[in-house]
Amino acid sequence: MTTNPSTTAGAASPLAPEWLQVPADLNALHEPLWAGGVTRNDAGELAIDGITVSELQRQFGTPLFVMSENDFRARARAFSDAFNDAFADICGGVDVYYAGKSFLCTAVVRWVEEEGLRLDTASGGELAVAARAGIPGPDVALHGNNKSDGEIHRALDLKLGRIVVDSLAELERVAKIADARGETAKVMLRLTPGVHAHTHEFIATAHEDQKFGLSMAGDSTEQAGLSAAEEAVAAATGYPGIELLGLHCHIGSQIFEPDGFALAAEKLLDFLAAMQTKYSIVLPELDLGGGYGIAYTPVDTPRPAAEIAQAMAAVVRSKCAELGISAPRISIEPGRAIVGSTTFTLYEVGTLKTVRVDTPATGKPGEPGDSVTYPRRYVSVDGGMSDNPRPVLYDADYSAILASRTSDAAPQLSRVVGKHCESGDIVVRDVYLPEDVAAGDLLAVPGTGAYCWALSSNYNYLARPGVVAVRDGSARLIVRGETEEDLLNRDMGV
Ligand code: LLP
Repeated sequence: MTTNPSTTAGAASPLAPEWLQVPADLNALHEPLWAGGVTRNDAGELAIDGITVSELQRQFGTPLFVMSENDFRARARAFSDAFNDAFADICGGVDVYYAGKSFLCTAVVRWVEEEGLRLDTASGGELAVAARAGIPGPDVALHGNNKSDGEIHRALDLKLGRIVVDSLAELERVAKIADARGETAKVMLRLTPGVHAHTHEFIATAHEDQKFGLSMAGDSTEQAGLSAAEEAVAAATGYPGIELLGLHCHIGSQIFEPDGFALAAEKLLDFLAAMQTKYSIVLPELDLGGGYGIAYTPVDTPRPAAEIAQAMAAVVRSKCAELGISAPRISIEPGRAIVGSTTFTLYEVGTLKTVRVDTPATGKPGEPGDSVTYPRRYVSVDGGMSDNPRPVLYDADYSAILASRTSDAAPQLSRVVGKHCESGDIVVRDVYLPEDVAAGDLLAVPGTGAYCWALSSNYNYLARPGVVAVRDGSARLIVRGETEEDLLNRDMGV
């Protein structure tokens, strides 16, 4: 075995994954990862709308989610415009439901509403946020594979625009509850078109072997030849408490290619046309879900919204022509694509540690040869898997940058880790950071707007960070960070 400490400075490390390049300039911001308005100021410090990260830390502490309100609004509009343009001549445009599960608070609901979008919720809690924000019920949808009776009542109380029904049993419950109230529930049926999107197993949702939706496969119910989806359509048409608006599917999340969406749209349109003929009904709505991917690292290259929208519109147009039906009103439910890139997480660096890792001399694991030892530096920050569990849950890759200053030091392969009692507590698995990163420096991790705060926990009794919205040069808390008092106030002490 040879020890080779000289590989520390500058060169690509054999420990790095193949996709990770040594950046030409460690101080540069790779634009697709960052919200509009994030720059380095003349002093080299990261700033958003002119507010420096050290100022944000002084005012709000770290860790901190820093979100650009203007960027959120711009992305919401851009998504909505792209799809409305693409579908204008097909069905007069689309209804865009922002998927609140990705990140939700009352301020965001108001932005969504002001930008002309609607809101997709997935629980009674999310409905409570919607209600608190005052968005009209008809602009809200409710999802969930296991809705409680209480959630169904709440949906009816709020006069929601749609309840997306996930199973035959739920359809019956919604029908009964609505009937007992002397009301009619507006319902979409969530189907699983069997499209397996290329994404992590746990965020792909339209293949058969998972918990969501009504199967479109012919043998999926006891009734010979009837799929669960068809059985639901047939049942829905017979319930006085149900107004069947149409069909829904969601094929997964963090998807880059339009093919999966297009295939799902075709399958649902085939089915919609068949049901309209067979049951002499009109299903005026088709929701194609969310799932549009974003860039987390420089190698991620998601398609622009307009490209995806055009590809989906082309398929809907030609399929409806082929089937001889008029196109249903299309809706979509993007979450990540709107909020993901609006936000970075600001952390303070604490403990640093460099380990030496044995690797074969070729640098290619598994090939014979003398092993060589390479350094990997662990950079601990003041948060971790409690504010971003995505690397642990989905092997998600992120990127990070030294934010409080620039540095001319050589790049060093680093692993940004949290402060939890788990060796898997990784925030950024592999990133080149300047060799001189030290305790007290601030790091920024971009792309943390979606499914980070929303999935955060109090593991190890860490207080969940606050969320700051920056707009036109001023920053305000839209969700305050937790205090120790918050952490203790549900402990009954008995
Ligand atoms: N509509 C439905 C029915 C959904 O289930 C979801 C996401 C969306 C829309 C929004 O998907 P988006 O556009 O944000 O991809 N926690 C995972 C993602 C779970 C997605 C759950 N459903 C992650 O962090 O990657």
